Amino acid sequence: MRKHIVAGNWKMNKTLQEGVALATELKEILAAEKPNCEVIIGTPFIHLATVSELVKDCVIAVSAENCANKASGAYTGEVSAAMVKSTGAEYVILGHSERREYYHETPEILKEKVDLALAEGLKVIFCIGESLEQREAGEQEAVCKAELAGSVFHLTPEQWKSIVIAYEPIWAIGTGKTATAEQAEEIHAYIRKCVAEVYGAELADETSILYGGSCKASNAPELFQKPDIDGGLIGGASLKAPDFKGIIDAWK
Ligand code: PGA
Repeated sequence: MRKHIVAGNWKMNKTLQEGVALATELKEILAAEKPNCEVIIGTPFIHLATVSELVKDCVIAVSAENCANKASGAYTGEVSAAMVKSTGAEYVILGHSERREYYHETPEILKEKVDLALAEGLKVIFCIGESLEQREAGEQEAVCKAELAGSVFHLTPEQWKSIVIAYEPIWAIGTGKTATAEQAEEIHAYIRKCVAEVYGAELADETSILYGGSCKASNAPELFQKPDIDGGLIGGASLKAPDFKGIIDAWK
């Protein structure tokens, strides 16, 4: 059975103190009521060590939101996969559309990041998804397939086991416009088919494919009921513990 996952992506929100307060609140809520899925929180780099320590004995896993495409050296301001790993974080989010768009991360750069993250023993939440223009042109399948082919389909089957896919239509991120459960299921099933073509049906069946884009407590149950939607990558609704818990509860 593949894993069900609810992952938060705080993005560039929360000071260290605010992040610690949020993680503490979430830890307490989930200690009182065990979740029915894996729970991950993606935090800015500076929170990783403190938050990892805080949640180390509880059900929450910690993720970075990025890492460098170089192993080490004179890259001022960058944070390597090894550094992320050394904080106690287990995951790294790579390929988010905001990184692709605002920081010009190409498939080649992302491929380097994926390779370095896996080499350090991190698991990767790899994001793909089309823009509104591409959706209107009916290109969503081609875009998703190309993003997978460009950065992760070179991995070995063994490495693939450390990959979680997040399908995030760009037009749904932070816009309040969610893909319908049917729209999301259609492309999730397609993504799983692409994975099966490369890695075989068994590995494809074990791959968790998350939906992201204005996912919240009110729409999560309908989305998560679909056979190929294995959870969510949550931005805005991960910034308040009760909102995030509402989404986790969709797996009840
Ligand atoms: P959102 O962001 O939930 O705020 O739409 C999702 C994401 O970018 O991961």
